[in-house]
Parts: sequence; C-alpha cells; structure tokens
Amino acid sequence: MTTTESVLKVRGGKPLKGEITVRGAKNFVSKALVATLLGSEGESTLSNVPRIRDVGVVKRMLKLHGVTVTTNESKDVMTMNAQKVVNGEIKEIAQLAGASRIPILFCGPLLHRLGEAYIPDLGGCKIGDRPIDYHFGALRQFGAEIEKMEGAVRILAPDEGLKGAKIALEYPSVGTTEQVLLTAVLAKGVTELSNAAVEPEIIDLIAVLQKMGAIINVQTDRVIKIEGVDSLKGYNHTSLSDRIEAASWGCAALATGGDIFVRGADQLSMMAFLNVFRKIGGGFDIVEEGIRFYHPGGDLKSIAFETDVHPGFMTDWQQPLVVALTQAKGHSIVHETVYENRFGFTQALRDMGAQIQVYSDCLGSSACRFGARNFRHSAVINGPTQLKPKHIVVPDLRGGFSHLIAALAADGESLVEGIDLIDRGYENFGDKLEALGADVTYVQGSSSAGA
Ligand code: EPU
Repeated sequence: MTTTESVLKVRGGKPLKGEITVRGAKNFVSKALVATLLGSEGESTLSNVPRIRDVGVVKRMLKLHGVTVTTNESKDVMTMNAQKVVNGEIKEIAQLAGASRIPILFCGPLLHRLGEAYIPDLGGCKIGDRPIDYHFGALRQFGAEIEKMEGAVRILAPDEGLKGAKIALEYPSVGTTEQVLLTAVLAKGVTELSNAAVEPEIIDLIAVLQKMGAIINVQTDRVIKIEGVDSLKGYNHTSLSDRIEAASWGCAALATGGDIFVRGADQLSMMAFLNVFRKIGGGFDIVEEGIRFYHPGGDLKSIAFETDVHPGFMTDWQQPLVVALTQAKGHSIVHETVYENRFGFTQALRDMGAQIQVYSDCLGSSACRFGARNFRHSAVINGPTQLKPKHIVVPDLRGGFSHLIAALAADGESLVEGIDLIDRGYENFGDKLEALGADVTYVQGSSSAGA
C-alpha cells in the first residue's frame, strides 16, 4: 500500500496473522548516521536502514552539514562521505529538526570538525518534559561553552579543543550517553562516564565507533571509559534490528488473538520483553530468522511490572503491552519509571471501554524519581474488556501505534487520525497490516512519510 494519507479506517476484530519483517532500529540508525560526521577519511556504509521519517530527517541534516549521502535502490543501504563538513543554515536546521531530537547529538562531532555547533530547539514525542540539561552539563565538562540564542543554542569548543572528562550521570540517559561517546572519542585524553546507559543500541554505536578507530571500554557497573584518538575514518556496519517495533507486533498478535512471525526480531535484545510476554500467557517461538508471537487461546494473565533502563523492561514496550493487558484477566499494574508522563495515551483506551486508572504513587517494587512529584506514572488495568471502535487522534509515536493495535482489536470500524506520526518509527506499517490480513484503508489528509 503506498499512500500519502493520514487517517486510517480500521475495521477491527480480526486476528492479525502472517509474517512481516522488521529492519534496523530507529534509535540506533539515527545515531550511527550522526557518527559518520566524525569520519574525516573514507566513506561510511550503513545497511539494514529502515524507510522511516526520522531517518529522512537525519539524512537531510547530514546533507545540510556538507555530508554527501547516497542510498541504494531499495533505500536500505546508505553511504556517507563526511570528508568536508560545514555549518548548516540555522533556519533550515530548525525547520528540519522540528520533528526530531537527534540534532542535539550533532554537537560533539561538529565541535570537533568545526569548532562550533548550532542546535535548534528540539522536537520529539510529547511524553514528558524531555530536558537536555544532562547533555549540556556533559558538553561543558568537555570544555564547551554554551550560549542561548533566539530559538537555538550556539556551542563553542575552546581553541585548544575539547578535553576528556570524568562525567557522572544523574540518571542513565540514553541520549546523554550517546552524546558523551560521540564527543569523547576525539577529545584529548581519557573520558570516564559513570551511570551510563547500556542499551543494545548504545553497544551497537560503540561497535561502529570502534570500527572508525575509537578506543572504548565498557566496564562493569555502568562505567564506560573512552581514550581519545586523533582522527576517525568511515565504517561499514549493519544495524541491529528494531526491538521496539518487533515487540509492538508481538503485542498486536496478543491483543487481536493472532499469530505473527516477526522476521528479524532478535531474542538477545528482547529478553525482558519476552519474559513479561510469557508471564501473561503469550506464546512465542524463537528461530534464527526471527520470533513468532501468538495468542495460544484461553485467558491471558494479569501482571505487575515496571519499566526501566536496560536490561530492564523498556519504556517503549510499555504502551503496546498495556493494550494487550486490556485483554488479560484481572488487575495488571504498570509502573513507568523512565518518563514522567507516558500514560496520556490511556485516555483513548478508556474511551474505547478499557478500565485503566492512572496514579501518581509508585505502584512498583521500588520508589522512583517521579513518586514525590505528583506525576501520574503508574497504571492499573482491569481486564479483559472487549474494546469498542472509536475515532482516535494519535498523540505520539508509540502511543499512536498502541492506538492502532487497540483499533485492530476492537470489534467494528475505528478511525485513527494523524497516523503520519507513526511513519516516524514504523516502516511501511500500512503494507504490513495488509500482509497480516487487517482490514484497513487510508481515507484522507496528507502526510510526509518516506526516508
Ligand atoms: N533526561 C533529563 N535530562 C536530559 C536527558 C534526559 O532529565 O538531559 C531524562 C528524560 O526526561 C527522561 C530520562 O532522562 O525522563 C531518559 O531519557 P533518555 O535521555 O534516556 O531518552 P532519549 O535519549 O531522549 C531515547 C529514545 C527514546 C527512548 C529513550 C529511553 C531516541 C531518539 N529516543 O530517548 O525513544 O524512549 O531513549 O530508552 O533514541 C521512541 O523511540 O519513541 C522514543 C521515545
């Protein structure tokens, strides 16, 4: 299905059955593309690139900074040449960046290559405040100076260049860990990062940087040590697969009583998800090519779990799983500890008949940093409920895909509006839904999907 329309009519109530393929991880590919800026010699080639809007944004950002980017015919292999890097037009960067948070990660590479960087105010999903104070704190520790401008920030490297630093993160932030890695590899001396995030996408980024010539040691207890080198070259790498998308399809299989083989799904990066999936009664078979997720019949079981940084249960798996939990028998409890405001999407599920209450208490085994701050970050889901069809407006990427799953599980015709937001992170999901036997039609509007 090729379309530019942004409202999907979904006639739900049919189990999704069949096979789809998941390609490279959105949250790795975008960072691996930024890393190409560090390579002053040779070309970088990245394979298993998904055709999603966020990749398109980074590709255009790279071009604005003088990097040449070519793609193969099927657009899953990208080749970048960053021998000449220039500062982009701030207005153009801002226009592009509106939809993405990736520009913040351009800082380190641009400071090394050009001595200065301009970063526009950031976009991204509305799932909390999503500040960038840790990023700026880390950059300052490397010696960068940060000046606020109208709608943007100017960052300057000192004349003698950035220096390695001892950085301790208040929280194991994924983006800040990537910021430190992308900056420390060419900084003078040694950087020691403690309380680092160690998500599989970060480890894959470290693999890319090592191919480029970096020296990075991942030590025990979330400590990463980086020894700065003088220069880096291009890389050749194949992205790890998207474990968020894979889990989303797993939840869609469960919520619709279906059976989906997700080609490309990877067990090692999904272990925490698979444990929860099994505990609630979902079936899965793991083979080399992927994972088959299915509803084995009978009742699904309720569960209590909390989201966490890796190796815990990812926050991005929470929303699709909550939809599946509306079909489980009894009370399930979900404690969201990564984002303070990631249950906004449950209002649409309540409108569809789901019984979900959200609380500001930490309803988990341990108190989190949001407990005392009145954020509604715990949810109790009582099921099973037969969901009713509804006109839904997509709030954010993961919440939006979850609404789509709910519409597919609901008996009757739903309209899901604003689905172009889902194009940011789910490749060809319309085609995939059709391949799984879903009854869906695009009905109106215009979106900007594409790579
Ligand atoms: N935080 C701060 N200050 C900062 C940075 C983060 O307080 O300077 C807080 C955030 O507000 C949040 C927590 O730290 O409460 C974790 O944020 P983190 O930095 O880890 O998230 P991120 O790098 O902005 C990436 C993914 C998210 C994913 C999170 C957690 C990308 C582009 N985004 O965000 O993915 O949820 O890590 O795994 O990699 C998505 O794909 O839909 C998505 C939101």
